[in-house]
Amino acid sequence: MGVVGAGAMAEAIIGGVLAKGLLAPGQVLCSHPRAARRADLTDRLGVRVVDDNRLAALGSQLLVIAVKPQVLRRVMRELRDAIAPETLVVSIVAGASSRVLGEGLAHPAVVRAMPNTPAQIGAGMTVWYATPEVGELGRRRTRLLLGSLGDELEVNDEEQVAMATAVSGTGPTYTLLFIEAMVDAAVHLGFPRHVARQLVLRTVEGSAAFAAQSQRHVSELRDMVTSPGGTSAEALAALERGRFRTVLSDAVWAAYRRTRQLESALEQGVQPEPPPGR
Ligand SMILES: NC(=O)c1ccc[n+]([C@@H]2O[C@H](COP(=O)([O-])OP(=O)(O)OC[C@H]3O[C@@H](n4cnc5c(N)ncnc54)[C@H](OP(=O)(O)O)[C@@H]3O)[C@@H](O)[C@H]2O)c1
Repeated sequence: MGVVGAGAMAEAIIGGVLAKGLLAPGQVLCSHPRAARRADLTDRLGVRVVDDNRLAALGSQLLVIAVKPQVLRRVMRELRDAIAPETLVVSIVAGASSRVLGEGLAHPAVVRAMPNTPAQIGAGMTVWYATPEVGELGRRRTRLLLGSLGDELEVNDEEQVAMATAVSGTGPTYTLLFIEAMVDAAVHLGFPRHVARQLVLRTVEGSAAFAAQSQRHVSELRDMVTSPGGTSAEALAALERGRFRTVLSDAVWAAYRRTRQLESALEQGVQPEPPPGR
């Protein structure tokens, strides 16, 4: 497996693959422009390293591309003639469509995947799309690779990978902000921070597990604890006054629009527009 863009997410992928015993460290070759990072990768993961992206691609059966979108064009130009026709390319670059990847790399067999940060502890959710040129073996390998990060879901409509970027890809950001706000509120009430943290983390974790295991709609589970005139009813009224659902929905749509902006900038080969307000 070759890895180009051996940063945080790539490290999660390598960690997952090694932890599951899918590959030995010596079967992973990472390229990185910085010597310090190369030394770090060898010391901690035992993988092989090079400073040339092309060397990571040459001879790889599976090539993971995990650079930031801003450097993707340059990296694709470097890799163009270094990828063997039978190699499976898996990209996790946000906003990089399979068309941009296929044309930029002159290599049609590509998987566009969108993981999320809990992948770093094997609890990720990855949504992926494979071009028709990816055969059954390539799909099986992709399932194994991405399954080592947590749950994986193949979609037949590539648009759903862009949509997933705003839901599961960016989702940990919303959830972590929610956790932070709830811990702060608990501290404001008077709990020591470590106690507040334990209460909130376990509640979020337990609620997700409860919803996942139950056959009922989440609103029914919520109704079960909402007694007339009770504490939950009072709290829900405050959340609705604060437009909680609307704000969350606006955030998901904003992330989706930003994904589409990144996508069209990469399609046109231009730098993405700065975020609105800058
Ligand atoms: N983080 C997430 O939650 C998440 C989720 C889904 C998808 N993604 C996507 O995953 C990709 C990587 O994200 P990340 O969070 O892992 O970022 P990251 O930690 O910055 O990883 C990117 C790595 O690429 C290296 N790099 C820079 N220029 C390079 C070049 N020319 N050739 C080879 N490597 C180069 C960077 O080196 P330096 O350290 O020197 O900059 C860095 O180590 C992004 O495209 C992102 O959209 C991220």
